[in-house]
Amino acid sequence: MAKCIPNFLIRVVHLFIIFTLSITVNDSLAASPQKAKVKAASKSSSKRAKNDMLAAADIERGKALSVGCTACHTFKKGVKSLSEQKNVTQRVFMGPNLFGIFGKKMAIGDYPYSAALKKLGKRGKTWTVDELYKWLRSPSIYAPGTYMVFGGMGDPQDRLDLIAYISTLK
Ligand code: HEC
Repeated sequence: MAKCIPNFLIRVVHLFIIFTLSITVNDSLAASPQKAKVKAASKSSSKRAKNDMLAAADIERGKALSVGCTACHTFKKGVKSLSEQKNVTQRVFMGPNLFGIFGKKMAIGDYPYSAALKKLGKRGKTWTVDELYKWLRSPSIYAPGTYMVFGGMGDPQDRLDLIAYISTLK
């Protein structure tokens, strides 16, 4: 039993040293100028990276990704989505038809849009690459109060592929 106590103490001291060392290493990493440089560079090049990604966007892949939107939307020309048909109850859970949306003003048409999206449309906002990119990241952050209940797409390339596909629908 007497032997156990020093062993236990050694363990505690050991853990304490490891803990202190890891804090020191983390701090010095955070303070390292190299890390700061990388951060600054990634900020300034993010716009260029996005343009490069858009140039390389894969329309076919975007089309495949659009299947995830068809739970609520249609992309077919001239077809009214369920939400745009007047006799359907609870219309706002479905979304508007997305054919020809690219370059158009937000929230116009037969759909009973949320006040949040209508406000943006009234301000003259249109669906450009940049706006769709932000909207698809998180509709509820982009337009708090929107009816589009969608968690958002985290992967930038997924969003740009999908936007490239949407832009062909005209
Ligand atoms: C759970 C249903 C749902 C899903 C899934 C969904 N949406 Fe929507 N979407 C909506 C609703 C509802 C609205 C109307 C939003 C409002 O009025 O605030 C909407 C609106 C939109 C608008 C605005 C249209 C306009 O006329 O201004 C775009 C663009 C859009 N969605 C794109 C997408 C894309 C792309 C996807 C797939 C990644 C998607 N949505 C997935 C329900 C959905």
